[in-house]
Amino acid sequence: MSDRRRQLLDELLAARRPGHALAQAFYTDPAIYELELERIVYRNWVLAGHVSELPDSGDFKVLEVARESAIIVRGEDGELRAFANVCRHRGSLVCLENRGTTKKFTCPYHGWMYGLDGRLTAARDMPEEFDRDAHGLKPLSFDVVHGLMFVAFTTDPPSLDGCKRDLAEPMAMFDFPGLRVAANRTYDIPANWKLCIENYQECYHCATAHPEYARMHSLTLNYERRARMREELKERMPVCGVREYDVDYIDTAARPGEIGYGYSRSSLFGKYFTGSRDGRPVAPLLGEFTGYDQGASDFTFGAFSFLLAYSDHVVAYVFTPLEHQLSRCEIYWLVRGDAREGRDYDVDELTWLWDVTTRADKEIIVNNSKGVHSKYYEPGPFSTMEAMESIYVDWILQELQRE
Ligand code: FES
Ligand SMILES: [Fe+2]
Repeated sequence: MSDRRRQLLDELLAARRPGHALAQAFYTDPAIYELELERIVYRNWVLAGHVSELPDSGDFKVLEVARESAIIVRGEDGELRAFANVCRHRGSLVCLENRGTTKKFTCPYHGWMYGLDGRLTAARDMPEEFDRDAHGLKPLSFDVVHGLMFVAFTTDPPSLDGCKRDLAEPMAMFDFPGLRVAANRTYDIPANWKLCIENYQECYHCATAHPEYARMHSLTLNYERRARMREELKERMPVCGVREYDVDYIDTAARPGEIGYGYSRSSLFGKYFTGSRDGRPVAPLLGEFTGYDQGASDFTFGAFSFLLAYSDHVVAYVFTPLEHQLSRCEIYWLVRGDAREGRDYDVDELTWLWDVTTRADKEIIVNNSKGVHSKYYEPGPFSTMEAMESIYVDWILQELQRE
């Protein structure tokens, strides 16, 4: 770390008041952003979608995170792999489409061609001694967690073993490997990435900002009332085939070298069976479920990926920086693998709740960002309903100090 960055970080940490929001520079200083890219963003796993998006050999998609771009592709051998989307000739992006099916990747600049396994297969007019084998696309860290694809832009990402093990049973209950992406949308938000994730982490704002969400989700309540509703939910779960798992959020501070992850289920209100406009089901029941227990489960996978699993669909949220003051929120709506659009679900109904909620959040986050840039901004104290956000912010500070 340069001396200037070290000094800036030291000053900010010395001035930090525990239990308070982050100081302005964490959101506005480009030097902090560079440090975050190096120590957090490129060092951690990012959810890149579901294996069902790439069923056949040659199917690919591209994932952008800050200044990096990944190609995820299913090879001729059926294996999924991820490569840096950077030509080994003079560095052009190789793949300019977001998704598709291909037999090879041809660089648009001088036409170097790469196979689905990343190998360089053609390069015109190169000197005799040129070694093609040494110029394949660079592989990225890639892994699949019960159907969910993850990419990391580092050779040494944190372990996914604990998460794979501890979330195996709750994920099997929803049949995660057998799900299918029914809809996928991106919301680009002109604000620093941390403001977006902090917003997702707390529901202190839900009662005021999200009338649609607040009608159905008990997470808008304080802890005591929510705990009472959870006890009632637990009684409904067994008859609906929903088993009880509580994977306490594992903070990486507790298990260094592993991603943070967790699972919990909370209750919906009164007439709500699922997260839909009128509370009625929007898709066939998932996995082993035999009825609607009126619950919704939260999954956390590392620093950027959060899933909400209702009885009949899953909503996966991924937040990543694109630039210092521009972030991407990507949402996947997943349904049973054999559910068919038109017959079993309607995309507008399926996506309604989290589309309105995310559009409202985008506005909130942009307003938050404007105020955070003001010379009158001063970090205020977190409420008791912002405990997760507080943990997250502390984790960021801890990672920034890691060599
Ligand atoms: S940069 Fe890709 S072929 Fe030249
Ligand atoms: Fe929100």
